[in-house]
Amino acid sequence: MVTKAKTERWSSRIGMILAVAGSAVGLGNFLRFPGLAAQYGSGAFMVAYFISLLVLGIPICWAEWTLGRFAGQSGLHSTPGILYTLVRHPVGKYLGVLGILIPLVIYMYYVYIEAWCMGYAFFFLTGKLNLGGDVAAYGDFWANFVGANENGLTFSAGYNQVVIFLLLAFALNFFLIYRGLAKGIEMFCKYAMPALILLAVVILARVLTLGTPDPLKPDRNVINGLGYMWNPGDVLAQLSNPQLWLAASGQIFFSLSVGFGIIITYASYLTRKDDIVLSGLTASAANEFCEVALGGLITVPAAFMFLGAAGIVGQGTFGLGFKVLPLVFSEMPMPQLFGGAFFLLLFLAAVTSSLSMLQPCIAFMEEGLGLNRKQSVTLLGLLTAIGSAFVVFFSKDLKALDTMDFWVGTVCIFIMATIIIIIFGWVLGLERSWREAHRGAEMRIPVFFKPIIKFVSPLYLITVFALFILFNVFGWNPSTGRFEPSSYVSDVVGPEPSTVARLSLALIAIIIVFFLILIGTAGKRWRQTEGETDPGR
Ligand code: ALA
Repeated sequence: MVTKAKTERWSSRIGMILAVAGSAVGLGNFLRFPGLAAQYGSGAFMVAYFISLLVLGIPICWAEWTLGRFAGQSGLHSTPGILYTLVRHPVGKYLGVLGILIPLVIYMYYVYIEAWCMGYAFFFLTGKLNLGGDVAAYGDFWANFVGANENGLTFSAGYNQVVIFLLLAFALNFFLIYRGLAKGIEMFCKYAMPALILLAVVILARVLTLGTPDPLKPDRNVINGLGYMWNPGDVLAQLSNPQLWLAASGQIFFSLSVGFGIIITYASYLTRKDDIVLSGLTASAANEFCEVALGGLITVPAAFMFLGAAGIVGQGTFGLGFKVLPLVFSEMPMPQLFGGAFFLLLFLAAVTSSLSMLQPCIAFMEEGLGLNRKQSVTLLGLLTAIGSAFVVFFSKDLKALDTMDFWVGTVCIFIMATIIIIIFGWVLGLERSWREAHRGAEMRIPVFFKPIIKFVSPLYLITVFALFILFNVFGWNPSTGRFEPSSYVSDVVGPEPSTVARLSLALIAIIIVFFLILIGTAGKRWRQTEGETDPGR
């Protein structure tokens, strides 16, 4: 037992489920998912998506809940603390650095996109985002707003509105995190989650009753819009594309907030008898409802009805969300209302997720360094402000954001998820983990998940990750048999490197080293508290 001092707890089961669901439901559900499904042909994408959900998403989710609740009883709540408790080896706690790095770095750029959503909601509600029927006008607006054409643009007079929204988003996040788990995160999610679902249902009803918005273009109707998103196409041919599997499994991780170090931290605040099997499944189901039933029916069908397939193809997530959709809303009746509601929905979804990215680091600073809430919030505020300022300054082509998202928001998540499932199935041992998962459980995990968790999930994860490295990092081209390193690699070691990409990686490296040193210090503190003599751990 490390410490029992001032252990925070969730105040209610529903509040805790909403907080976990809130962490999961975010920009990934309403922007990233529809963009990927449309890009890869939805039928095939959904097959890979549901297999990934079953084999990776749900098992790793249960593993995080179980490990978090189990280790949390010792009084430690951060991933380094949890892995210190679970892995009786010096290296254990250091592996936990990923559970700090991932949420921290993702927060640094995620809050920037959150600020765009807040800005767009404001611009719609005040009637400033009605730029006519030309998508280029919305593209220019977005580029100027986020500084996509020039580094440092958003810090210059006349272009710094986004910084004001960013400061507001920061203030809201830190105010809530300062209030703590129950009074801040849980309280906010209790209101924000129903509100965002209500907003999504209203917007969905509007989209599904649009009929044929332009009678001169009868093909662009609601049925064809849904068909564009959901018709299966040539499923078997598409399923042989490894990129589709990578995209689908990456989306499952990102969407469920699995492999971030978040769920494990949230679960550590449960008591030993709290149910986790049903709660974990409920939170995941809520996320899937928001993603597939709401996100999947709004964004792409709406864009198709006004712009046709040509208007969607090649837009990417940000293009779809911040160029195409504003045009779509301004073509609809009552654009202020529906455009404002959509971006407010995105903003709320983003806040419930970004809040969850701060908690793992707060937990570490409190339990590892002995800081009080005020000190840890201040230090975290400083760190994230430096990181976000970096992302906002190096905004040209969103290079810093993109580099961090690739190396931390994708590569590191795969590694963290692999560590979690291996600890659950192999280090703690499947039988013990299984018993632990079912303590206080209101339902049993179907027994076929045992071989899935022990063998299929790790193998699937390692295969997908190896393919990911082969294709997306080393750029293997199966038709030529040659390696053509992806831009993420050539930006760093290619003949024409990108200074911003290199600086972004340097920042990530500094954060890793900084926290590794702190974890070493925390380890000493935990050993002393336990009165343990093993100097290696
Ligand atoms: N799970 C969060 C999202 O989907 C990070 O945006």
